[in-house]
Amino acid sequence: MKVAVLAESAVGERRVALVPEVAGALGTKGFEIIVQSGAGQPAGSTDEEYASAGAKVLSGAEAIAGSDMVLRVIVDSGSVPDDFAHLRPGQALIAFLNPTGNLPVVQRLAEQGVSAFALELIPRITRAQSMDALSSMSTIAGYKAALLAANHLPKFFPMLMTAAGTLPPARALIIGAGVAGLQAIATCKRLGAIVEAFDVRPAVKEQVESLGARFVELKVSLDDTEDASGYAKEVSADTHVAELELIATRMAKNDVVITTALIPGKRAPILITRDMVGRMPRGSVIVDLAAPAGGNCEATVPGQTVVEQGVTIIGATSLLSDMASDASRMLSKNIFEFIMNLAPEGEIKLDLEDPIIRDTLVTHEGKILHEPTRLAIERGGAA
Ligand code: NAI
Repeated sequence: MKVAVLAESAVGERRVALVPEVAGALGTKGFEIIVQSGAGQPAGSTDEEYASAGAKVLSGAEAIAGSDMVLRVIVDSGSVPDDFAHLRPGQALIAFLNPTGNLPVVQRLAEQGVSAFALELIPRITRAQSMDALSSMSTIAGYKAALLAANHLPKFFPMLMTAAGTLPPARALIIGAGVAGLQAIATCKRLGAIVEAFDVRPAVKEQVESLGARFVELKVSLDDTEDASGYAKEVSADTHVAELELIATRMAKNDVVITTALIPGKRAPILITRDMVGRMPRGSVIVDLAAPAGGNCEATVPGQTVVEQGVTIIGATSLLSDMASDASRMLSKNIFEFIMNLAPEGEIKLDLEDPIIRDTLVTHEGKILHEPTRLAIERGGAA
């Protein structure tokens, strides 16, 4: 089977879907790899490195025309390249598709008969851990958020005892202890800050404490915060009020707040109001990782760093491209494992009993299989 790796066209995107090393590994499994010239360059991988790994380097249109499967990091409404007109019925596409947020793209892929797989829909089950691209990216975001906070804070993170006196450590509050939040806790701890974390799911208390942070507890019923699969769900109005009060009391005590709270498929909940921003010490920093989903802080401007009431608020949206090299390595490994599950003998085996394949297959044979996307289109969401 021939697999094409395309260059990205989203503004500011620097990752690549397959680094040369993993292209070579796929080659040893019998796949033929075709790379669009220059695809790896923003992530630090040259055409020569792909060629040495056994890949063919061609133009984008040639790569699509000559392949059975196309890999790309992101396909969204703002960045569908002209080359996509060359996609054929039966051809597979693997990428982050954000299907419910990109209805026209999904509709077009369905019309072209493409079998499109969305990486963000890989279920968080044990067998799929090595393919979980979303967790890989959240690990990077959490790490980078802690570094950004340290960089913008006009204070040290660790306690320092110097000849010029003793400087107290910075204090950080992490809101949302999922993959990104846990990595942010670990990184803030490594830098020497005193860390506390809050999450509506009491189940994460143990993980937070195992990283050496304090878990800030909200006394709520479990039914109100977790769905059957253990994911956070939208909390009731009463719980929301209680959590805002709790967070407000903690804001005054912390120099750094990193927010990561997300409900899958929804706008991020507002957990920090403008009034709460004003309670932080001047010079404090908020890094809002939920910025791409609207932000957890009322004052966040996605993609920008703003100062409000003396507090720096970072609406981080490009952290993954800022770490393009390792983000691409992790993503490549996840995609490699996804392909090995999808095409174990070198040809695609569409086993719809397999939740990894069934859940990620968004369009196939002209149909939209991802139900939330199909319903949104039926309600008139796409042209
Ligand atoms: P996750 O689903 O593993 O974790 C989200 C956590 O937030 C869960 O533990 C959940 O219980 C918690 N949460 C949900 N609602 C809450 C509430 N009302 N109060 C407190 N906690 C609440 O998600 P993951 O993988 O850690 O991703 C976290 C965030 O990082 C997401 O918003 C994601 O979009 C973002 N991200 C941002 C990037 C960037 O460049 N800014 C890059 C990659 C991820």
